[in-house]
Amino acid sequence: MQHAQPIGVFDSGYGGLTVLKEIVEKLPAYDYIYMGDNARAPYGNRSFETVYHYTLQCVKWFFQQGCPLVILACNTASAKALRTIQQNDLPKIDPNKRVLGVIRPTTEIIGTFSECKSVGILATNGTVQSQSYVIEIKKFFPGVNVSQEACPMWVPLVENNEQLGHGADFFVKKNIRELLAKDPMMDTVLLACTHYPLLKKKIEEYMPVDVKIVSQGEIVANSLVDYLKRHTELEQQLSINGGRLFYTTDSPADFDKHAVAFFGREVQSKHLDLEDFHTAP
Ligand code: DGL
Repeated sequence: MQHAQPIGVFDSGYGGLTVLKEIVEKLPAYDYIYMGDNARAPYGNRSFETVYHYTLQCVKWFFQQGCPLVILACNTASAKALRTIQQNDLPKIDPNKRVLGVIRPTTEIIGTFSECKSVGILATNGTVQSQSYVIEIKKFFPGVNVSQEACPMWVPLVENNEQLGHGADFFVKKNIRELLAKDPMMDTVLLACTHYPLLKKKIEEYMPVDVKIVSQGEIVANSLVDYLKRHTELEQQLSINGGRLFYTTDSPADFDKHAVAFFGREVQSKHLDLEDFHTAP
């Protein structure tokens, strides 16, 4: 068997599985390691420093597993940690490794979904506060108006399997009403958190029918296909045994029970104790 050089896929919890699901559909041959930092999730309300520190520690763990490429399938980590990791840490750790996020591929294309040039962003507090979507969309689509709404209760609802409960109705309705009030013209709303596709049914109930609801999984997967075509030196390092490994920093039994709703099939995860993992400076 080829020495494993998997693609690492990271999220604070389960949400990144919605992205991994689309990636493995498009690129089934590669080996993948998924890690959810469930013990420290959610990241959405944490400070820049904390999200950066947690994410960097997890990225170093992926590198130690042999991953030449790590995808932060988490908007909060992409917004708060990715740039510093790419610019400051990677050159010191290993300039040949790559870490990619989910914001850039999404902002490159989201403007094309909107006919009236008005896009809404639903995301965690951290992602909204970072202004990453507003700044990046303006670069690619200067004429597009971007409005944002932070939905701090949505990740806890999903992580606690309450996405179909009455609590979800209350918060989904409230946040959608508040987003639409910011720009009644908007015809496209991006689910800018990888957990939110699980709330899509509820979101559809409260969103006007003429507003497009866009999830990121497929966008990120298409962008990765394109990236690997353009970066053959990286692509050639990736191992192709079709392997899938899942790790959680919390309980594997809980992870396996919840993961199926996000990934669409059963998984068997292992526990990862980051306390035992000592990162080199
Ligand atoms: N799935 C993560 C994201 O895309 C959730 C962040 C959190 O843990 O709050 O932002």
